[in-house]
Amino acid sequence: MKEQEWKKEEGGTQGRHDEKSGMRNEITRRTFLRSSLIAGAAAGAAVNGLLPFIQTIEVAFGADSFSFAWISDSHLYPKTLNTRFVEKTERAINEVKAMKPAPDFLIYGGDLAQLGDPVELDLGAELLKSITVKKYYIPGEHDWYLDMGDKWMKLFGKPNWTFDHKGVRIIGLDTISRGPDYWSAKKMSQQERMGHMATLDGSVAGPWAGVGRDQLDWMSKTLSDWPKDKPVIVFSHNPLYEYYPPWNFWVRDWREVQAILKPYSKVTNVHGHTHQVLYNEIGSMRSIGMLATSWNWPYPPEGVPVLTTPMVRVDPGDHFDGVGWSKLAMTAADKVNNEYMMWRKDVFAQTQVDSGTGDNTNQILSPRFADRP
Ligand SMILES: [Fe+2]
Ligand SMILES: [Fe+2]
Repeated sequence: MKEQEWKKEEGGTQGRHDEKSGMRNEITRRTFLRSSLIAGAAAGAAVNGLLPFIQTIEVAFGADSFSFAWISDSHLYPKTLNTRFVEKTERAINEVKAMKPAPDFLIYGGDLAQLGDPVELDLGAELLKSITVKKYYIPGEHDWYLDMGDKWMKLFGKPNWTFDHKGVRIIGLDTISRGPDYWSAKKMSQQERMGHMATLDGSVAGPWAGVGRDQLDWMSKTLSDWPKDKPVIVFSHNPLYEYYPPWNFWVRDWREVQAILKPYSKVTNVHGHTHQVLYNEIGSMRSIGMLATSWNWPYPPEGVPVLTTPMVRVDPGDHFDGVGWSKLAMTAADKVNNEYMMWRKDVFAQTQVDSGTGDNTNQILSPRFADRP
């Protein structure tokens, strides 16, 4: 078992490491990231064949502590087409149900469906029904662009929400519904519109990921009565910083999001969409990318944030590889403990090549998207 203590660089980082050799295992004194299956409860679970597959998060702020579970990016197809992703989702759900003690709540972090098909969304809702703890949902782009969220909202309600839990203000953001209209002028069918959302490359749909002025104002208002030194957790489908815009691994209005969050000293953003081990800090905001239950995405050609130790390249012959769960703990001493778990035991790459970020063809570095002319 390894424990890495990473040191944060001055001023944080927006997106990627600057050079090939710059992938350092650096994190703040307050941040720990353990690189293998943990001992204790998880080892017991492993012995019992119950490796948890979801993202479980334990948060401890002083005396108050609680855990909760995260599942996202299941990308369900109708059962008649494909059951592979259904099986993985069921496995995750069963492992949430097996958690002892039970989590306080479950966050479903978006991309429940693959093509926004009502059959897919109904299937997901049905599968998740067996989890009896309180559930909160945020949408992913795959859930939305067939009928512009109609079915999703009928099943799961409002796509953004807030509540307080044991001294933490918790915010769920909708980062997917405010995409530019790329379909009307081209007279696309609903299916065509959805199809362009179901690609990694957003060259047709454009910079669809964003929070939007109205929701920024809402978030600002939501936080206005919250003490600046008390913890805030923001759940979003997309990361709230500029990681890799061509794949919408960002929100386009990240500057405004960060301006709102900046006064708060203990902000954690937990996000889906990127389907990979990912960690970043900007100022006092930490961002932690969750694994998908479906598949993992490659790392972008421009590299990963300097604080990320990349995950191992997956075995293409093993469709359970590259997916897993994560456990995080925040303490009153501002420590963030994050433990990624996968069914495969190797989580973090030992060399650049192991992760797919170390070869020359994959590391063409260029200026940040936001800084280009
Ligand atoms: Fe996804
Ligand atoms: Fe997504």
